[in-house]
This record gives sequence, C-alpha cells and structure tokens, in this order.
Amino acid sequence: MKSVVIEQPGELRIQTRPLPEPASGEVRVKVRYASICGSDVHIWHGHNPFARYPRVIGHEFFGVIDAVGAGVDAGRIGERVAVDPVVSCGHCYPCSVGRPNVCRELQVIGVHRDGGFSEYAVAPASNAYRVPDSIPDKLASLIEPFTIAANITAFLQPAAQDVALIYGAGPMGLTAIQVLKGVYGVRQVLVVDRLPERLALAQQSGADAVFNNSEVPLAAQLEGVQPTLIIDAACHPAILAEAAALASPAARIGLLGFSAEPCTVTQQSLTSKELSLFTSRLNSHRFSQVIDWIERGAIQPEKLVTHYFPLAQVEQAMTLFEKDPRTCCKVILSIE
Ligand code: NAI
Ligand code: MN
Ligand code: ZN
Repeated sequence: MKSVVIEQPGELRIQTRPLPEPASGEVRVKVRYASICGSDVHIWHGHNPFARYPRVIGHEFFGVIDAVGAGVDAGRIGERVAVDPVVSCGHCYPCSVGRPNVCRELQVIGVHRDGGFSEYAVAPASNAYRVPDSIPDKLASLIEPFTIAANITAFLQPAAQDVALIYGAGPMGLTAIQVLKGVYGVRQVLVVDRLPERLALAQQSGADAVFNNSEVPLAAQLEGVQPTLIIDAACHPAILAEAAALASPAARIGLLGFSAEPCTVTQQSLTSKELSLFTSRLNSHRFSQVIDWIERGAIQPEKLVTHYFPLAQVEQAMTLFEKDPRTCCKVILSIE
C-alpha cells in the first residue's frame, strides 16, 4: 500500500509499505478521504512535541472496513466509518471519569501511531464509527475537526442569550461558530481574525459580526460589548489576557492552544469577574454527537472545504494549506 510517511522532521515520502493486519480488537480501514490539519504540517516540520518518527500522518480520515481482527464482528466488513484518533487505556483516572482524550497512556492515531494518509489504516474497532448514508464520503473526514468544537462547547455550555466571541476563523474557529449557531442557537457570535478572507468564511459559517484586528485592536471595535463566552481558536499566548479584559462578568473562556510560551494574566482580571477558564484537548467520545449534528443539518462541514487533492499530491496539498491561509481552509486528500 502507499502511505505518506514523515521519516524524520522535514522528510516527507510516499512509501510502499506492507498491508497492516488488524490485531485483536482492531479493524482495517481502506481509507477514501483524509483531511489535512495544522498538526500534520507540524509533525512534518518537527514542531509537534508528541510525534514519534517515522510516522504515517493523518488523524482525520474516513473509509470502509475491509478486514477485522480477532474478536471483532466480521459483519462490520464493508461498513463506512470515520475513525476517532483518540486511543485510550480505559482504566486510568481520566479514562474512569470519561476523559479518554487525556488518558495517561494516550495514543493519537497519526501522531503516536500510524494514521490515515495511507491506502489502509488500522484502529481499535470501537474507534471506528459508522457513518450514515446521508453523510457523503467526501465530507466524512470532517467529523473529527467538529469533535474539537463539540468538546470545548460541552465545557462552555453555550446558551441562547450568550454573546460569544471567537478568536481565529481557521478551521477550528469555523467549526466553533457552526456549533454555537446551529446546535446551541447562540444569538450573537462575534468573530475576530486578521485575514479578511477568513472573516468571509466566518460569515458563511454563521458569524453575526466579524472584526479585523490587524490594524485596530479588537477592544476599540467592540464598543463596550462584553462577550459572555469566548473561545480562543487563534491560540496566540497574548489572547488570554485580552479575553479576560473584554469578557463580561461571569463569562466562560475556552482555550485550545498548545503554545509553550507563558500567558501573562493577573489573578485580579480573572477573579474580579469570576471568569471560568476551560481547556479542551481533542475529544472525549464525541463522534456520535457530531454525526448526529451533520445528519440533522445543524452543522455544514462542506462550508470549510476549499480543495481536494489526490494522495500522490500530498506534498503540494500540505504546502498550499500551510502557506496560503487566504485561499485555503480544509484541504482533503482523496485516496483511490
Ligand atoms: P489556523 O492557523 O488555520 O487558524 C488560526 C486563525 O487565527 C487564522 O485564520 C489566523 O489568521 C487567526 N489569528 C492568528 N492570530 C490571531 C490574533 N491574534 N487575533 C485574531 N486572529 C488571529 O488554525 P486552526 O486549524 O483553525 O487551529 C487553531 C488552533 O487550534 C491551533 O493553534 C491549533 O494548535 C489548535 N488546535 C487545538 C486543538 C485541541 O484539541 N485543543 C485541536 C486542533 C487545533
Ligand atoms: Mn485535526
Ligand atoms: Zn486511560
């Protein structure tokens, strides 16, 4: 089979590898579509602290089960599935409280073990979620990025009367906008980014107002509006302090970033307004929820997609994705 392998930081190859056999409890998926994420680019360039090399990248993928390991119902062969990349032990403290995404032995498919930029991939059978016929093949790899928004909003508990503010209108910001509007019915969703093209996508995904902070600081544009729910999907370390300053008393702030740089924020700016801070990593069993949202039309993954490329052009696709955020949002690889 052909697989996209990062041999070591900076070295991307399409290799021919032996077909993997599903181990006990696993399924093998013949991958049809896989979407590119910033973290794939980071693994390629050696900027992901969790990655081990060589690695077949790709954690957002969809395909058809073509083989099963011992103990897995052979009736699943032929099933269309999206694969949850979060592989957990099931018995540590975080697993025991329903937080497998921060399992002590967390293994992320495409990061810690081989992933979906490949003609075939193996995964635990319980990570392979059946995709209903109403969700087309070419959109099903986008279930995973929406699980990030599902996870953070589960912490933030959005309500109709919230005034939400989202930093960043990349894929993560756009999924958050769609979930806040389409699932939770939040009345006002404000979005800030530095790129007008990204803000246009935010409007297409349902943003009620957009702000460009490339020249004028956001505070000067909000005219005293105090957001009650803030999601940082831009993830610059300076954003937390600004968010705390702008937030309404009793607001909730959700953080998605992994920067190793310190965020400088005073206790007073948080405590005086009794702000709640939540962080969210990957997803905890949110695939079924997102599949349901897409099925009932609450969210529209197609609004994120700008490009499709065949697997053979993966390097071109990843380079475009990385260098051209004005024209690119979700870039999806098709695998024959
Ligand atoms: P992206 O880079 O495509 O989008 C970020 C957007 O933020 C861009 O449109 C950029 O113009 C904008 N931006 C940057 N600095 C800004 C600022 N100071 N003010 C306003 N806008 C600003 O990235 P993507 O894929 O949307 O991911 C966003 C972040 O989420 C990344 O840092 C990524 O590491 C993180 N992430 C976290 C996950 C988690 O589970 N916690 C999962 C996936 C991504
Ligand atoms: Mn991703
Ligand atoms: Zn665990």
